[in-house]
Amino acid sequence: MDLIVLGPPGAGKGTQARLLQQREGIPQISTGDILRTAIAAETELGKRAKAFVDLGALVPDDVMIAIVAERLGRPDARRGFVLDGFPRTLPQAEALDTVLAAAARELDAVLYFEIGDEAIVQRLAGRWVCAQAGHIYHLRFSPPRTPGRCDIDGSELIQRADDRPETVRRRLEVYHRETRPVVEFYRQRGLFDAIDASGPIEDVYRAVRRAIDARVGLERT
Ligand code: AP5
Repeated sequence: MDLIVLGPPGAGKGTQARLLQQREGIPQISTGDILRTAIAAETELGKRAKAFVDLGALVPDDVMIAIVAERLGRPDARRGFVLDGFPRTLPQAEALDTVLAAAARELDAVLYFEIGDEAIVQRLAGRWVCAQAGHIYHLRFSPPRTPGRCDIDGSELIQRADDRPETVRRRLEVYHRETRPVVEFYRQRGLFDAIDASGPIEDVYRAVRRAIDARVGLERT
């Protein structure tokens, strides 16, 4: 399956993409994680991206398109992927079409996570992620077994710099301005499944699975 998870900041895209990776073996490709890893390692990409990410602005399209084109060409992505955080602009969506067409592939589904702004603010305010690999927790909705430590690798839990309230507001503005047109782009293509992302994590996962199963079922008929 070649999938996109799309939706506003804090909608739960990363949480669900990681579950799909763990449970179905479909590799998660998160552009946010790629950028945060580069920033932490102070690579050239990280130095270039840091100012954009810290401000809640978008990293330029040419940079992001090159990253995703390279990542999709790696062996693990050959049997499918869940793209999380890309595309975020129309030029990114058009570039993805070109990359996939060159590899004789096409998208199977675009899962759009619907959720209100109030829930987004609550989710981002309580989010903690592990310093080592970005595993995602929430103080109330998905707490770690040991406070302050990642269940999976034991590393320290930290808050993301871009989860400050003023940066969250900026990210939401950017989302509405730049990414909403991408939602319409895919809606018109008939690839689009709206997912109610407001419920508990396992309920959302069931909705995601139902949408994927319906697509696979449709493809087989
Ligand atoms: P990115 O990392 O992609 O951030 P985002 O899209 O804003 O999404 P988030 O990671 O904030 O939220 P999410 O939907 O994954 O929610 P999560 O699962 O963590 O991008 C960061 C930055 O990088 C951008 O601002 C930009 O600067 C740059 N960037 C990245 N890609 C780019 C691109 N393509 N082009 C240009 N720039 C780019 O969940 C949130 C919280 O809620 C967690 O605490 C979780 O535990 C909890 N939670 C999840 N689901 C539920 C549930 N169902 N019930 C209760 N709690 C839940």
